[in-house]
Amino acid sequence: MKSIKGKHLVWLQDWSPEEIETVLQTAVTMKAAFLSGVRPQPLSGKTLAMIFAKPSTRTRVSFEVAMTQLGGHAIYLGTNDLQLGRGETVADTARVLSRFCDGIMIRTFAQKDVEDLARYSRVPVINGLSDLVHPCQILADMLTIIEKKGKLSGIRFAYVGDGNNVCHSWILGGTKMGMEIRVATPEGYEPNRDIVEMGRESAERYGGNLVLTTDPAHAVRDADVVYTDVWTSMGQEKEREQRLKAMQPYQVNAKLFSGADKNAIFMHCLPAHRGEEVTDEIADGPMSVIFDEAENRLHVQKALLALVM
Ligand code: CP
Ligand code: NVA
Repeated sequence: MKSIKGKHLVWLQDWSPEEIETVLQTAVTMKAAFLSGVRPQPLSGKTLAMIFAKPSTRTRVSFEVAMTQLGGHAIYLGTNDLQLGRGETVADTARVLSRFCDGIMIRTFAQKDVEDLARYSRVPVINGLSDLVHPCQILADMLTIIEKKGKLSGIRFAYVGDGNNVCHSWILGGTKMGMEIRVATPEGYEPNRDIVEMGRESAERYGGNLVLTTDPAHAVRDADVVYTDVWTSMGQEKEREQRLKAMQPYQVNAKLFSGADKNAIFMHCLPAHRGEEVTDEIADGPMSVIFDEAENRLHVQKALLALVM
């Protein structure tokens, strides 16, 4: 396996399929060991700084628990508790935190903040979500797909709804792993053009496929995985009404889901806005693996932290 010690996770575009595979394989091994009671602490004495400019349930708790289980420590830093909130630059914050800590996780708005943090940090920086991407989520979801479907390559994956950060990370990551990524969004809510271009290049290079459409039924037809996310992401609250209207035909409900493969699974990064992008019937149905995805945030991030820190 390839060493990724010291590597930043700014976005999956910088990661090779081999590096992604390394994290996933390590996660499979570490999860099995953990569940059988074997609990090594490779990060004993190490500290992860966690900067949050947006709220979080899963990311905060899974990273903090991951550090505890690996024998290390995590510090929660809300941006308003840091001098960052009073005008200290991201670059200076990176230079200071990386003299104390062994890794930095950040959840923020601008992708550039994550890039700057990585540029000026001596220790690995992990993107815990920006407006552009959410790579840790996709790694956890890939682990979940491997558990449920046994592979990534060739999987027909339908993303339905808003062309947002989660959608972008699926385009970047899925095409590298040889998946068929189908994206159905309303007009005006398509994924970022540069990301689509990168996805097309990766699909070409690694044997994946990327299909964009405005027709949700077309994307879902015979799919192995049906995935959605909230229609209004953090920071877009003012656009909520207009988004609700535009995305109504993209709701994942029993009718839409019935077009998928008979063994299809339903995925959602959570938090879900039930009754909007997904109905209770689907979110709580036998095909739903949404809480397995949440659990796998912990396992995949433990692998990631143990490998990069
Ligand atoms: N999926 C996810 O990142 O959830 P949180 O916003 O709760 O961290
Ligand atoms: N797209 C969502 C994901 C939340 C985990 C958001 O950015 O709010």
